[in-house]
Amino acid sequence: MDARQITEKYHLPVYNRYPITLVKGRGTTVWDSEGNEYLDALAGIAVNSLGHCHPKVVGTIQKQAGELMHISNFYYNKPQAKLLQLLTDISGMSHGFLCNSGGEAMEAAIKAARRFGHQNDKEGAIITVNNAFHGRTVATISMGMTQYAEGYDPLLKGFCKADFNDIDALNEAFTDQTIAFVLEPVQGSGGLQVASQAYMQEARRLCDEHNALLIVDEVQTGMGRTGRMFGFEHYGIQPDIIAIAKAMGGGFPIGGMLCRPPVARAMQPGAHGSTFGGNPLACAAATATITALKDEKLVQNASEKGHFLINLLQDKTADLPQVIDIRGKGLMVGVELSFEGRTVVTEMLHRGVLSNCTQGNVIRLVPPLTISETELKTLVEVLTNAIRKTSPSQATN
Ligand SMILES: Cc1ncc(COP(=O)(O)O)c(C=O)c1O
Repeated sequence: MDARQITEKYHLPVYNRYPITLVKGRGTTVWDSEGNEYLDALAGIAVNSLGHCHPKVVGTIQKQAGELMHISNFYYNKPQAKLLQLLTDISGMSHGFLCNSGGEAMEAAIKAARRFGHQNDKEGAIITVNNAFHGRTVATISMGMTQYAEGYDPLLKGFCKADFNDIDALNEAFTDQTIAFVLEPVQGSGGLQVASQAYMQEARRLCDEHNALLIVDEVQTGMGRTGRMFGFEHYGIQPDIIAIAKAMGGGFPIGGMLCRPPVARAMQPGAHGSTFGGNPLACAAATATITALKDEKLVQNASEKGHFLINLLQDKTADLPQVIDIRGKGLMVGVELSFEGRTVVTEMLHRGVLSNCTQGNVIRLVPPLTISETELKTLVEVLTNAIRKTSPSQATN
């Protein structure tokens, strides 16, 4: 049996996989077990921002693995200390908690927010937005889009939802009992919807007015993806809690929750923890990744290449009525189609480009931040040809 057959036999049937087995990656390219080459415009869903196997990250992991991989959080470790200094420095937050994934980062954010709420005698909800995606834990499926919560009742209480980018709905949802408001600056799985300037500013104002916390889920938008180190920086506001993961470890699993002093004061020894969270190997990988992002000016690059990509997409799809909208920030771009997008993604795969479809009809493009203009031209050409080929109304090519 090959890897595909073994996986189908033994793995829980929770993933809808494409029929290739990837065996190697370098930079923006990955190869499958048949030797076929692909331009990776998905980057492990916004994880491989430095491209695959960045030499500085690989070298750091190899060195750290030979020195100290894991110890308990009963003791201090140097890579964790160094990473915390770096994260607080780039985010403007005062404290951090380290974990292993985005879902866990959001769990830490919710737990810290609830303790903050209790300490402030609040009994209200955490406001979330419809169509959000914050992870697959029971708490996070209770907060976001309903499709991921089906079959998992009873969900966690203590959340109420308002429509994204709806300022009136947000005003209605807030009370003096509200503990926090949570949003993604650009919704990833929600279809690449971008928070408006007015909405984000009103969110900050309402949180201040009601002594509630503004939590930004930067799991996908963080680490330079949108052309700023964090998505919230586009809005001229400062959050109280930031959740991060995905690109943070350059492919090595790590996440984190960063916060300001009032949140940190709500947490005491024993209030939260993780066996693997902040272990030396993951932290060394994350520090190497963030350092490379900065040294290679990839945040700026994401901004420039993002403009290039959106302009090119607008130009090359101008004659395609099947393209309803093109939106995003930096290298986090969605192409909304008038038809089901999975066939487009499959066609792109056949033409040597990896991508993804979310919300049924939005092609999500989140390539490595190292991607070149030539590669973006290839990506756009493959995408437009795939749309032409698979569109139900115009099956040409
Ligand atoms: C915005 C956002 N938050 C949280 C998560 C959950 O992260 P993880 O899959 O690492 O638990 C994701 C994952 O896609 C995400 O996009």
